[in-house]
Amino acid sequence: MVRHSSPLAGAFTALLGLVNLAHAFPNGMIRPRQTPIPGLERCTSSTFDAVVAEFGGSLAPRSPYTSNTEPYSGNDAVLVWATRNTAINIPDICGVRIAVTGNVAFEIYLPSPQRWNRRFLTVGNGGFAGRTSRVDMFSRAVHGWAVMSTNVGHEDASGGMSWAANNESLQIDWAWKAMASSVPYAKAIVAAYYQNVSAVGNYYSGCSTGGRQGIRQVEVDANSFDGMLIGAPAWNVRSAMPVLSRIGWLGQTSGLKISPTDTLLLQRIYNRVYERCNVIGFDNTANDGAIRDSVACLDLFRQSGVSGPVWSGLDCDNNSPAANCVTLSQRQAFMTLLEEFKAPKAPGEDPSYAGDGFDISGIKGLTTFLTQQSLTDFDQQFSRYFLNETIVWDSDENGTRLITRSEEWDARVRANADPAILRGWRGKTILYTGTADGTVSSLGTRRAFNLAGGTSNTKLAYFELPGMPHCADSGNGGENPPWYIGGVGISLANGGTWFMPNTTTPPLNNTEHDALVALTEWVEGGPGEAAPTKLTATAFSNLASYTISKRRPICAAPKRQNYNAGDINSPESWSCVAA
Ligand SMILES: *[C@@H]1O[C@H](CO)[C@@H](O)[C@H](O)[C@H]1NC(C)=O
Ligand SMILES: *[C@@H]1O[C@H](CO)[C@@H](O)[C@H](O)[C@H]1NC(C)=O
Ligand SMILES: *[C@@H]1O[C@H](CO)[C@@H](O)[C@H](O)[C@H]1NC(C)=O
Ligand SMILES: *[C@@H]1O[C@H](CO)[C@@H](O)[C@H](O)[C@H]1NC(C)=O
Ligand SMILES: *[C@@H]1O[C@H](CO)[C@@H](O)[C@H](O)[C@H]1NC(C)=O
Ligand SMILES: *[C@@H]1O[C@H](CO)[C@@H](O)[C@H](O)[C@H]1NC(C)=O
Repeated sequence: MVRHSSPLAGAFTALLGLVNLAHAFPNGMIRPRQTPIPGLERCTSSTFDAVVAEFGGSLAPRSPYTSNTEPYSGNDAVLVWATRNTAINIPDICGVRIAVTGNVAFEIYLPSPQRWNRRFLTVGNGGFAGRTSRVDMFSRAVHGWAVMSTNVGHEDASGGMSWAANNESLQIDWAWKAMASSVPYAKAIVAAYYQNVSAVGNYYSGCSTGGRQGIRQVEVDANSFDGMLIGAPAWNVRSAMPVLSRIGWLGQTSGLKISPTDTLLLQRIYNRVYERCNVIGFDNTANDGAIRDSVACLDLFRQSGVSGPVWSGLDCDNNSPAANCVTLSQRQAFMTLLEEFKAPKAPGEDPSYAGDGFDISGIKGLTTFLTQQSLTDFDQQFSRYFLNETIVWDSDENGTRLITRSEEWDARVRANADPAILRGWRGKTILYTGTADGTVSSLGTRRAFNLAGGTSNTKLAYFELPGMPHCADSGNGGENPPWYIGGVGISLANGGTWFMPNTTTPPLNNTEHDALVALTEWVEGGPGEAAPTKLTATAFSNLASYTISKRRPICAAPKRQNYNAGDINSPESWSCVAA
């Protein structure tokens, strides 16, 4: 809050805070009558006029997003505004929205020159939704970062894809162009705001589509960033989207037949996997909801076979096949989900890789896709609106046709990002995934890691978080293990706002608990600075109060998390060991 000399003035401002704030801006509807909030003196449109003249487009009013809320006070009609949270007393963030070209716009949050940490951060988007990622922007801006996010070229937060129908130009904006045109523009905005103080580093953070966007932008311009924090990148979107249709087909039509006959079927399979692979004698932990060696777990199930001992006790009585059991064809369909998809070829030709299977620990995360198979569903909207295709995955042959169509589409739109670009890239990358990711397969992220070099080195550090679902946006149905490491895209319910300073919250914004802070130290330490080898992930027992319940290490490949002895919720009971 603004500080005032008299208590009366303070009370008056508290009542009319919004109006008072508008006084700070020449573009507001009310002319300034008071001293602006300290730190916001340069938050006026004239500060940016020269940059806008150089790059084109225009300053634009802030779009009033109704569901993607962020702490904000102000008037949506102004061209620059203050984004603030009175509870945590951070009033000095200047917000700017630029309409770049067509429908492409970006927003940037600029902390006061006094609080700027001299870093520029771009945060990515999620799925196919179009709007700036204000929560992710704000949670870093309060800590002094200048943060930008684009709207990917359309304003549609529904997550639906009808906006893409018959409009390849909008698809290309989403695929890469919105980002490509916004990054250099936003850097110039940063330079204009902070005048003669220059940034010490340019960073990127994104998960899922956001992860793909970061790698894609490095392909467009290697100098965009000095460091990137990339979570579960949807880099192989052209095959990953059709392969999601295969899950629906396996779940609904082929083998599994999830619903409506047996809603507890997935729970039985999930329980069985964790009973076998998350136990003392396998990974030395008793049912903590995280499988630490999913490769060995998959081997166990493969070697046992669908009628083997790993399934004992779940055999179906032929007369009542659905009750408390898993049929052989359901087991087979489950195992098929875990294997990479190989496109059928002409007789005599070997089938080739066409898409990734899913980690065995991610069965719960697959529920959504296993239980849907209609043209209104996520994966089939992609076929319909991006590929303009009505084929459904009702056989591996038709699925292969879908993938081929998608490859033709990608040759025009260029949405796929090739992780091999990271091999020789000048910047440094922290790549991570939850092993239980049922949306962007963690096996696909491991493939990305292999394409990027296959070993953590001076430019690349790869972390797998045992038990974490997609970008940690929802629980995996079991006992949630710690996975909070400061990645973006985490819903508010899972602690997306924890990053606000709160006196009752132990500090999390340090190199141990926050992968982005670890990245800055690594990047700014220069070429000799050692890559992070260990982070400590956090879990909260109460998300409203951010009460911490558990912590444990997250280990850079090739090491992995291991429980030694003692209190399972204490990080001291764990270590990183050779895999
Ligand atoms: C963590 O946040 C506090 C409060 O904003 C800030 O003073 C401190 O510098 C931050 N630390 C890092 C490493 O960013
Ligand atoms: C989409 O398919 C329809 C029907 O085949 C066709 O008429 C239309 O031209 C296609 N649109 C594009 C953009 O290819
Ligand atoms: C694509 O959408 C944009 C924005 O709505 C519009 O200006 C453009 O005309 C559309 N292009 C086609 C081919 O419909
Ligand atoms: C720019 O440099 C001048 C002269 O050194 C200094 O007075 C001014 O405070 C600087 N501006 C900022 C925003 O730091
Ligand atoms: C595959 O697609 C074709 C063309 O849409 C359709 O006629 C056929 O029924 C589909 N299924 C199979 C198994 O071929
Ligand atoms: C910090 O969090 C606690 C628990 O939710 C809350 O009671 C308190 O008001 C918060 N403090 C600040 C400064 O936001």
